[in-house]
Amino acid sequence: MTSLSVSSSPAASVRTDAVVIGVAKGPKGLVLAPGSESVAAAFGKGLLPALTGLGGTGKAEEITRLASLGATKAAVVVAVGLGDVAKEYDPELLRRATGAAVRALAGTASVTLALPAADARSLRAVAEGGLLGAYAFTAYRTTSLADHKPPVASLTVATGLGKEAKTVVRRADVVTRAVKLARDLVNTPPSHLHPVELAAAATEAAAKVGLSVEVLDEKALRKGAFGGILGVGQGSTNPPRLVHLSYKGKGGGKTKVALVGKGITFDSGGISIKPAAGMEDMKSDMGGAAAVIATMAAVAELGLVIDVEAWVPMAENMPSGTAIRPSDVLTMRGGKKVEVNNTDAEGRLIMGDAIARACEDSPDYVFDVATLTGAQLVALGARTAGVMSNDDGLREQMVASAGVAGEAMWGMPLPADLRKGLDSDIADMVNTGPREGGMLTAGLFLQEFVADGVKWSHLDIAGPAYNTGAPYGYTHTGGTGAAVRTFVQVLEDLAR
Ligand code: BES
Ligand code: MN
Ligand code: ZN
Repeated sequence: MTSLSVSSSPAASVRTDAVVIGVAKGPKGLVLAPGSESVAAAFGKGLLPALTGLGGTGKAEEITRLASLGATKAAVVVAVGLGDVAKEYDPELLRRATGAAVRALAGTASVTLALPAADARSLRAVAEGGLLGAYAFTAYRTTSLADHKPPVASLTVATGLGKEAKTVVRRADVVTRAVKLARDLVNTPPSHLHPVELAAAATEAAAKVGLSVEVLDEKALRKGAFGGILGVGQGSTNPPRLVHLSYKGKGGGKTKVALVGKGITFDSGGISIKPAAGMEDMKSDMGGAAAVIATMAAVAELGLVIDVEAWVPMAENMPSGTAIRPSDVLTMRGGKKVEVNNTDAEGRLIMGDAIARACEDSPDYVFDVATLTGAQLVALGARTAGVMSNDDGLREQMVASAGVAGEAMWGMPLPADLRKGLDSDIADMVNTGPREGGMLTAGLFLQEFVADGVKWSHLDIAGPAYNTGAPYGYTHTGGTGAAVRTFVQVLEDLAR
């Protein structure tokens, strides 16, 4: 894993393979961003004309490479664009630009970041962006491994920020390692990550940080009457699981939070089978589970003063002679009977059980996260998650925490009139309503399993969990680790 340290010496004098500076679009052309002073001084007046001559414009995330030819300790200088010149650069812009630069420098052993990092907010962004940019998933490469440049091994951030820098960097290290754990889990193929293996991965992650773990197998699920998890799982030869991770912060009088994450290790749609095109992306349908497992690891490492229980339902949604059929009725945890009119709306079935279980311990808050609906992508696009809640203030708080963490999330309503779309002719409800507003109807379905008095927020990360396009900023192709940073942020804010 990539390491990150801070240095208070001028960036130009740090012994390193490459140094990254920021450039921006000024009114009269390219300008240098704060942090680059020592590098600029080492080059004399020649730096900006050289960068301009090489085509640099300062556009956000633009990469311009320059040979230092002895001017700096580093052989290579990389200028990364920060967009329009600003007094203070937006942290997420800095995070992305740093990520883009570190991605472009894959194959380089050590990199020094001479970027705006004079205050804690900027330092946090640069540290997170750099560490998140340094990532590759190579577990399934053998003969092709040598064709892929390894991520930067060691990062140094040049900053004048004194003591506080240590705390900021330590947090960035914990949080970004958690994000990478979530990415790894999402990227792992479903052939190697059945529910049993995902449960084992959760157990391993929990053991490393001293969380207590309980894994409910089929027998325990039957005993607990988890009809949703069992129903979805019954179509696969790979049995379902429910993982319970528990974190108790030190001291009394703490806020109690439960996290719930969707862990469909592969979603074929079941008997309501999906079209072949894009079905391979459905290995990412455990992105919510990955986010919850990773968040728990980070919470424990940070030692937050809060109690967090995680409930992570895991199943493989497959069509077979034992699979649930459209029109089957399942009895969920807590007794509600659901008529399954579409087996491809499986996420809400396993999540309903887990949310009901989480509420039995009377937490103050339940936060759930799921790659729940294609309708999320239609409504908000691939990069912006939908945030729903039974409490307007909580929804706003979640969106605000996402903003601080640098994740795109947007508040969405749970219109009461859509609930009638879930009425069943024979049972308490069906699992799918009309196509229009599908993300909201899915949210209303989950809300049915939230106990009175529990503040609940639901994140639909169907698009954001998995990047099917080219890399950008600190986001690689494949698993993104979406929701981890937001969850850690919101839990920090709720902790005493
Ligand atoms: N896992 C999918 C949602 C999804 C779609 C995630 C695209 C990521 C990318 C979910 O289980 C699903 O299939 N939802 C259905 C619900 C429908 C049947 C009401 C959907 O969105 O099509
Ligand atoms: Mn589905
Ligand atoms: Zn699904």
